[in-house]
Amino acid sequence: MQIHIVPDADAGARVVADLFERAVRDAGDQGATLGLATGSSPVPTYAELIRRHREEGLSFARSRAYLLDEYIGLPADHEQSYHRFIRENFVDHIDLDSAQVHSPDGAAADPAAEAVRYDQAIQQAGGVDVQILGIGSNGHIGFNEPGSSLVSRTRVVGLTPQTISDNSRYFTSADEVPVRAISQGVGTILESRRIVLTASGEHKAEAIAQMVEGAVSARWPATMLQMHPDVVVVIDEAAASRLELADYYRHLHTLETEQSSTAAR
Ligand code: PGA
Repeated sequence: MQIHIVPDADAGARVVADLFERAVRDAGDQGATLGLATGSSPVPTYAELIRRHREEGLSFARSRAYLLDEYIGLPADHEQSYHRFIRENFVDHIDLDSAQVHSPDGAAADPAAEAVRYDQAIQQAGGVDVQILGIGSNGHIGFNEPGSSLVSRTRVVGLTPQTISDNSRYFTSADEVPVRAISQGVGTILESRRIVLTASGEHKAEAIAQMVEGAVSARWPATMLQMHPDVVVVIDEAAASRLELADYYRHLHTLETEQSSTAAR
């Protein structure tokens, strides 16, 4: 893993946006396949990409996007659906074709079949070039809660009481938070060619420490990212505060910036 410890969310957003911009430019006329996440962590990155689109002409016209997950039981236009979240916070503000913004259908009559269809659709699109991820305070990625198979595919999952409580801030009360979702599996996420995980705040520090330095375990599903060859972690000082080797990561980052060739992966 390559660890960037940044002073604040805006600095982190620039680092993540650089990686997305590179993927879009590298894909050229073929267009990049972007893996998008909801939650608060990616929002500054989306704002920075919107700014680059408006002010610097960064175009997503040939790109396509796949969301990580969707609540079950909310129609796509529900104000808390993830499909709506990603439209309002990102894709409605850039030139990405709305027909190319894909997400699991949380209102499907058969959610299990919808999960399989979605997993296959990502593969048929050639896989994700760059995936942005947040992390739950319990170490989940997507909605892969503790105990998830580390090779899981897109499937129906049940949310933990902690996740329901964490996400209740978007709803009027915890009772309104859906208790199930369709989520890309850990194995599905790991097929992305590059993964960029971003987090901030003390409440993420334990999950980040486990993910970077802990043993690979279903107890902390994000630890499986250790098995991926191209993961970039962009975190603020508070989220980095429980990393034993933080000084080493800073040292590596300095080397990398100076030489732009040395990186720990
Ligand atoms: P957050 O959520 O970005 O809103 O903190 C991340 C997650 O739960 O995966």
